[in-house]
Amino acid sequence: MNILAIESSCDETAVAIVADGRTVLTDCIASQVDLHRIYGGVVPEIASRKHIEAIYALADQALINANLTRGDIDAVAVTYAPGLIGAVLVGVNFGKAVSLAMDKPLIPVHHIRGHIAANYIAYPELKPPFLCLVVSGGHTMIVDVKDYTQMEILGGTLDDAAGECFDKVGRVLGMPYPGGAALDKAAQQGNPEGYVLPRAKAGENPYDMSFSGLKTAALNLIHNAQQIGQEVNINDLCASFCAAVSDTLVLRTMAALEQTGYKKLAVAGGVAANSVIRRDVLSAAEKIGAKVYLPPLSLCGDNAAMIGAQGYYEFLSGNVADMSLNAYATKSILGEAI
Ligand code: KG4
Ligand code: ZN
Repeated sequence: MNILAIESSCDETAVAIVADGRTVLTDCIASQVDLHRIYGGVVPEIASRKHIEAIYALADQALINANLTRGDIDAVAVTYAPGLIGAVLVGVNFGKAVSLAMDKPLIPVHHIRGHIAANYIAYPELKPPFLCLVVSGGHTMIVDVKDYTQMEILGGTLDDAAGECFDKVGRVLGMPYPGGAALDKAAQQGNPEGYVLPRAKAGENPYDMSFSGLKTAALNLIHNAQQIGQEVNINDLCASFCAAVSDTLVLRTMAALEQTGYKKLAVAGGVAANSVIRRDVLSAAEKIGAKVYLPPLSLCGDNAAMIGAQGYYEFLSGNVADMSLNAYATKSILGEAI
């Protein structure tokens, strides 16, 4: 089954064609990152406009790349939530138009479910149940993936997402948007014990976490140094920051692995590209005999292939939409309004 998949929830316009949820026939991305960089973050109105400009040609390009015609497409999958509402709407409306014009099923896909499904592409043998640490720009949570479309959130951040903190600290350090990748690179040259940063405990749930205190501590450290004319060792600060984020994530993820008894741990989302988190997750899981599934860097960030992968399993479970499908800025991974 060939699924034409569409993703437009933030600043990447993406169209992919995925066969049977696992084989990527083409994965086209028109990134707007360079455009938003001059503003230090994504400007929603610009993002929506650029999605409109790119999406039609990108879909045509996807067919050409895959050497397919419109008649070879069996269904259309689209990210319908969560994201910047104007941006998500562009993909949803395009998906509806294609579905209507070609008389093919329309499959709504939750963006974070898509991030998890990136692992199905990278690891053909991976099947639920497994545990997944989701770390993206807007979400940080530990998910029990009981089945392809059946999940439970065991815990997550009570305030900022890990990616948000990377971007904010990177920005204050003068790094280009989005700061995560640049911060990671600087961290590789630094001493993770160079600065003392907090690892917050959050509430009663052992799998919940908090990053706002860590973010504020890092920002205060930078501002205080600036005020008294002291130099911050940027590499050391980045290394210490990555270590604090990673410690917070890994501790809770390992506890959840032990509690669920799963021996399979997947990681998903843009922050899954972080070299410190990748290394720490691997070594911690190895100690308890769990296998780790880390998507290749190309599948960590936003892409449409992951939407096509999840879309296949949504379709198999009967999740098909009609022309009344709407876009949502927020929606739980379980499909509930939040
Ligand atoms: O999943 P994603 O592409 O978009 C959302 O769904 O939010 O994640 C984007 C986030 C950004 O915050 C970006 O800075 C972060 O992923 N990121 C990283 C790295 N590469 C991307 N954070 C830390 N280390 C990295 N190497
Ligand atoms: Zn994403």
